[in-house]
Amino acid sequence: MDLLDSKVYSLIGDEGFVRLCAAFFRRVPTDPILGPMYQHDLAGAEWRLREFLVGRFGGPERYIEKRGHPRLRMRHSPFKINTPARDRWVATMGEALAEAKLPAEADAALRRFFDDGATFMINHPD
Ligand code: HEM
Repeated sequence: MDLLDSKVYSLIGDEGFVRLCAAFFRRVPTDPILGPMYQHDLAGAEWRLREFLVGRFGGPERYIEKRGHPRLRMRHSPFKINTPARDRWVATMGEALAEAKLPAEADAALRRFFDDGATFMINHPD
């Protein structure tokens, strides 16, 4: 059975999101597509992604308290996100999920969200 997104935080806590996002951002600097996009303030970017996910998956709303409404498509508009970039992001997050070894239901809910969410972020045709 599918796990409700809002239950993911109760399953993996801050600790799970910390491990997942650390594994993702460890891969970013050397990635030929993602590296140049996330040039500045990697630690800040890691906080923003992690805390957004914590709130989105049933944890404390620390992201919204600090950043306000996510408006994620608008906040991605400075970056050229085409299908290859989207696929790279999803593949990198897939590697991070594999490394983090979260419980299967949490892993599945997160993968589903990343797959759809990253497609929604595409803002460039090529
Ligand atoms: C489900 C998919 C995604 C989610 C949930 C997500 C989430 C986020 C969040 C929460 C931020 C910080 C926004 C802010 O407060 O300013 C952000 C920034 C960013 N995202 Fe995404 N993103 C996704 C997909 C992508 C994709 C596909 C790319 C590029 C291939 C991308 C590249 C970036 C970059 C370059 C930033 C700026 C880093 C920073 O915060 O300083 N994201 N993303």
